[in-house]
Amino acid sequence: MKSSRIPGFYKKTVEERKELLREALELSEEDLGVLSSNEALPIETADKMIENVVGTFPLPLGLGLNFLINGKDYVIPMAIEEPSVVASASHIAKIVRDAGGFKTEASERIMIGQIQVVGCSNYEQAKQILLEQKEALIDAANAAYPSIVARGGGARDLDVRILNDSPESSYGKMLVLHLYIDTCDAMGANIINTMVESLAPTVEELTDGKVYLRILSNFADRCVAKATCVIPPELLVTGDFSGEEVRDGVVYAFEFADSDPYRAVTHNKGIMNGIDPVVIATGNDWRAVEAGAHAYASRFGSYRSMTKWSVDKEGNLVGELELPMSIGTVGGAIRVHPISQLAHKILQVDSASELAQVIVAVGLAQNLGALKALVTDGIQKGHMALHSRSVAIAAGATGEMIDIIAEQLVKEKEIRVGKAKELVEQYTK
Ligand code: MEV
Repeated sequence: MKSSRIPGFYKKTVEERKELLREALELSEEDLGVLSSNEALPIETADKMIENVVGTFPLPLGLGLNFLINGKDYVIPMAIEEPSVVASASHIAKIVRDAGGFKTEASERIMIGQIQVVGCSNYEQAKQILLEQKEALIDAANAAYPSIVARGGGARDLDVRILNDSPESSYGKMLVLHLYIDTCDAMGANIINTMVESLAPTVEELTDGKVYLRILSNFADRCVAKATCVIPPELLVTGDFSGEEVRDGVVYAFEFADSDPYRAVTHNKGIMNGIDPVVIATGNDWRAVEAGAHAYASRFGSYRSMTKWSVDKEGNLVGELELPMSIGTVGGAIRVHPISQLAHKILQVDSASELAQVIVAVGLAQNLGALKALVTDGIQKGHMALHSRSVAIAAGATGEMIDIIAEQLVKEKEIRVGKAKELVEQYTK
């Protein structure tokens, strides 16, 4: 691309944008064809969702199976490009199912909006005034978004903190108002942002300060969901590894992640391998969930494991995962993306709280899947079997040839496109 400066790109039609792209990058019609080949998300819909649209970007959508959560069966749509994730989640869900299933619970769903006020002549006094006006401010916030009040939600409470209260910080001192909002089954970004923006002029007047930021907090620590599972060791036997060996390995793996951020990041990434695909498939904002989850993992002062694994008195492996879950079952992309609508039909959840609980159960399963593999055969064995299929496809294998060539690549321990091309040639001769 000669320049990324293309004035008026946003005003063009999708076809015009694609034509510009084709000329600039000397692309073929075939190259461009893939951009519009996704019938599931019509290009006209995509063009309304974001800016400068030239196409859509499909991901594989798999189904996590075997999930039994609070006695209810779930088929879990997961949108992800990484091999083994869906298989591993389903494998662990089967084990947990045989142990009675996941148990989950959720807190109330209270989201937070923040208003930052600077330049107050007397911060303590400003704080007192805001607290005295609490009821009036909550009423004003609710008046700014009456439809959420009509649905049984709305602003519930507020709190005020003074930050950077040190004499040497000339820029640093500020007052931060937290508005606590029940967003019902919506993730609620629009509700929260509308409410805090509407309060800003009143807050400036009351505090004699200047408001800068008015925005939701993705650290949704009043909107958390928790999953637990209890697994007898006999269900953990893997190849030559005894159930006790696997159980103890998982607990050691947890202790490792819980005391070392280098390991915790990878351990937690494995948890998000399960969480993000469900968040994406259900049309939710996975960046918000990611940011909140990692912050929650640091809430005790250092970055630690999101899950906890221990052994109970009977010798069972006990797993727990609690995370903030700022997701919804209504609003946002859910309404417009046809696949996310289908994902909700497949999942059959009745509320955002139920969806949040399903998501943490998948995260817990995914973590155990990774740890069980890591403490036994290692993850490459399973990965390579799937990876070899992608390599076979990249080398031109089609139909039944894909599995035959993939198996041969694994057998010869040479999972390379070059080798796969040789095999494809031999096969087609
Ligand atoms: C790979 O995507 C995820 C793992 O690295 C997670 C882990 O190490 O726990 C296998």
